[in-house]
Amino acid sequence: MREAPIGVFDSGVGGLSVLAEIQRLLPNESLLYVADCGNIPYGEKTPEFIQQRCSAIAGFFQQQGAKALVLACNTATVAGVANLRRDYPEWPIVGMEPAVKPAAAATRSGVVGVLATTGTLQSAKFAALLDRFATDVRVITQPCPGLVELIESGDLHSQELRQLLQGYVEPLLAAGCDTIILGCTHYPFLKPLLKQMIPEDISLIDTGAAVARQLQRLLAERELLAEGPARAAQFWTSAEPEHFRNILPVLWNSAGIVQSFKY
Ligand code: DGL
Repeated sequence: MREAPIGVFDSGVGGLSVLAEIQRLLPNESLLYVADCGNIPYGEKTPEFIQQRCSAIAGFFQQQGAKALVLACNTATVAGVANLRRDYPEWPIVGMEPAVKPAAAATRSGVVGVLATTGTLQSAKFAALLDRFATDVRVITQPCPGLVELIESGDLHSQELRQLLQGYVEPLLAAGCDTIILGCTHYPFLKPLLKQMIPEDISLIDTGAAVARQLQRLLAERELLAEGPARAAQFWTSAEPEHFRNILPVLWNSAGIVQSFKY
């Protein structure tokens, strides 16, 4: 069981930013990744639809013998993690949510910005997160429609992307944010571009590394940490595998075997 793989998924390529943190922290682990690119963007879908996708993907990882599941997607977590934990009570499941707690602790101006999908920002889970951790700070939320689609196309630098992103970042800067939460796993790929748009003393916070540490804790508690060596990561996509194959070397450290996901 220790050498069983870990299942990781996202609506698309965004979760690769989390997969990289997992691989960095846990290099002995064999990783399976599902990108539900045929249904992108989750951020504009209903919670019911996302819950169905979460169940289908979790069922697939169960068949693959995965010893743990990571929802490398904020939007899927707010919609689907509770149902998955109910359906698989014994399975270590790690979800992710915008880093409100660390941002509230880090801000000096008392104003924190959150870039995330519409689905995440409108969820009850996000409202509860603010109630719990953001009582002493002002939080400015900014949904970012369109960003995910551009990143999915492999665009991290175009003029169109730059303009769209600038429009989302400006209100946060104008409100005096000194800490910006990247509340969608696609956005860490935009850090180089974002850094050109914001003053140096503004921090960008994402949760990929914290998710990897939480996964490590859950596996260690259950004596499930692999001793290695890891097998090469395997990838599935619910859209055209060729497109994912082409984008993989841009967003992941190497090429990989990409198969079609038909669930
Ligand atoms: N990467 C996802 C997240 O963390 C969502 C992207 C999408 O809208 O599909 O929220």
